[in-house]
Amino acid sequence: MNTFEVFKLFPITIESAKGLELTDSEGKKYLDLYGGHGVISIGHCQEDYVKAITAQLSKIGFYSNSVHIPLQEELAVKLQKLSGYSDYKLFLVNSGAEANENALKLASFYTNRSKVISFHGAFFGRTSLAVAVTDNPAIQAPINKTDKVLWANLNDIESVKKVIDSDVAAVIVEGIQGVGGVQIASDEFLKQLRELCTQNGTMLIIDEIQCGYGRSGKFFSHQYSGVKADIITMAKGIANGFPVGAVMIDPNIPAKFGMLGTTFGGNHLGCAAAIATADVMAKYNYVDNAAKMGAYLMGKLKGHKAIKDLRGRGLMVGIETVADAAEIRNRLLFDEHIFTGFSGGVNTIRLIPPLCITEKEIDRFVEAFDKVTK
Ligand SMILES: Cc1ncc(COP(=O)(O)O)c(C=O)c1O
Repeated sequence: MNTFEVFKLFPITIESAKGLELTDSEGKKYLDLYGGHGVISIGHCQEDYVKAITAQLSKIGFYSNSVHIPLQEELAVKLQKLSGYSDYKLFLVNSGAEANENALKLASFYTNRSKVISFHGAFFGRTSLAVAVTDNPAIQAPINKTDKVLWANLNDIESVKKVIDSDVAAVIVEGIQGVGGVQIASDEFLKQLRELCTQNGTMLIIDEIQCGYGRSGKFFSHQYSGVKADIITMAKGIANGFPVGAVMIDPNIPAKFGMLGTTFGGNHLGCAAAIATADVMAKYNYVDNAAKMGAYLMGKLKGHKAIKDLRGRGLMVGIETVADAAEIRNRLLFDEHIFTGFSGGVNTIRLIPPLCITEKEIDRFVEAFDKVTK
């Protein structure tokens, strides 16, 4: 049987990795400034992480949510500490789309309303509701299309006011749009959104799947604005590559047995991976490192002749180039052996590296970028 070919692949097979270094099947080394799509937060094959997962696997890897799994509570406490959202509740799933799917359902259950406001340029995943609030008709099947989603413009509160009504359960917004090309939801906009949602009895859902977990230089990117979301979704960096997603829920939203559920979510191995990731994040202060290294990188790139616009916070950086970004990205990969991300719609190279990156690795990228844009 062949695989179902939905991914456009680079002709590269990665066989091993350590920190930010990837090694392919021919022994070629690459610098990873893409982190497997923003997933690798503490570096590939980090020692403590490998040890913790291995130890857990030799005890028990999986049992379902029909029994008490204390690792879930341990993880909840660690996430509370890292995020500062001390009284929120945690619901664990397996991916970003699933986290958003559950967040939207929860908002609808709680408010007993049926509509949601999303933003142009947004990406929330590919399950039914998540793709319905994603601004890309090409990835919505006819069954996903709905008139329950209302659209507004990021950083334009008037466009939200125009569509909000008493049947809007939630506004869902990325703290920083990732696939959309690193577009920051401004602090002012998030404050206005918070106020509007509160006035209207609407849940504010902030997707921190790509921009969260320390990447922005704060644990959640929306924490620059000082607002609190009613529901926050996480995935990607939370378990450094083990598939874990999470929904953090305001304690005023009551849980009812059976309202949400999952077979794999919150399993022993996933929790052990997420706990080890949280421990390493805290031990090495990677949130601070993201802030420092992000500022260092932005400082090096600022004013570069090949750059049309430079956007980002911490280690989520969008480089909109003057020349074709796809071509520059290919040259970075094939000539300079550096993996980067890409947002085609806005001609932008996206850097979402592991949060343990050093100045030396950033210098190597900047040199390579100079070279391929000469
Ligand atoms: C902001 C955002 N939300 C949701 C998702 C979906 O996550 P997953 O692919 O784990 O379902 C992504 C994936 O890229 C994302 O960037």
